[in-house]
Amino acid sequence: METITCDKGDLFWTVTINRPDKLNALNNSCLKELEIVFDEVAKSNAIRVVVLTGAGSKAFVAGADIKELASLDAEAAEAASTYGQQVFRSMEICGKVVIAAVNGFALGGGCELAMAATFRIASDNARFGLPEVGLGLIPGYGGTQRLTRLVGAGRASQMICTGEMIEAAQALDWGLINEICSQEELMNRATQLAKTISTQAPLAIQRAIAAIREGVENGEVKGFEVESRLFGHCFQTEDMKEGTTAFLEKRKANFQGK
Ligand code: COA
Repeated sequence: METITCDKGDLFWTVTINRPDKLNALNNSCLKELEIVFDEVAKSNAIRVVVLTGAGSKAFVAGADIKELASLDAEAAEAASTYGQQVFRSMEICGKVVIAAVNGFALGGGCELAMAATFRIASDNARFGLPEVGLGLIPGYGGTQRLTRLVGAGRASQMICTGEMIEAAQALDWGLINEICSQEELMNRATQLAKTISTQAPLAIQRAIAAIREGVENGEVKGFEVESRLFGHCFQTEDMKEGTTAFLEKRKANFQGK
């Protein structure tokens, strides 16, 4: 991997976009490497959580690589947007919790990447924005859809049409992120959350995030239906037997993801 580092722990991985001299701007190599990493994450039974962050102290990801974008024609741009959407979608549906630990600028494709994670925490120096209209573009990696879902159409329209950045406190107030930490504390907090999630039943987590996504994407009625079906599926797992038995035996559950 040239543009991404992957710290492979036993239960969770830390994936870092690693082009700090370009504020971790996403070029084509980054997208390809993200695709490879999340394909592996999806296939692994061992990994339970991914923490996603950016190298250095200034940026999570400052957008798609503008140098690469500048040379595209309309057809290539549409294909690039579709490919970026596909890579982010593969992360979103990898079946594991992805925590975006936003450690600075999350702009354009960087904000879109963070929004495709399961949830987001941020350092106090984080800034969020979709500044594409200032380049004569619109967000192309899912930003018009995911931002609208997360903060509502009015706030999304404001952010997208002004191109202005919002600070971490505003992002928290609008529900774009869940927590703010100091820069020094951010990765500790992400690790703590990853460890807590890792101790829970992995197949239950996979189903819980799938049910949440179903409702968000296809409406509450479909969401309720899928929730009941997946609730039933949990009762076919050894983990469900282990979890309920451990509770009744007053001991800690040891989940195997089976
Ligand atoms: N694509 C390509 N390169 C980028 C980039 C991007 N999205 N964002 C930053 N960089 C590069 C800069 O070109 C610069 O490279 P150089 O040292 O070779 O000139 C380097 O990263 C540092 O960025 P710089 O602009 O000098 O830092 P800054 O502190 O003055 O400004 C930002 C920080 C984030 C405000 C500014 O870099 C910026 O506006 N970036 C683009 C954001 C954007 O429009 N993203 C959406 C893209 S679709």
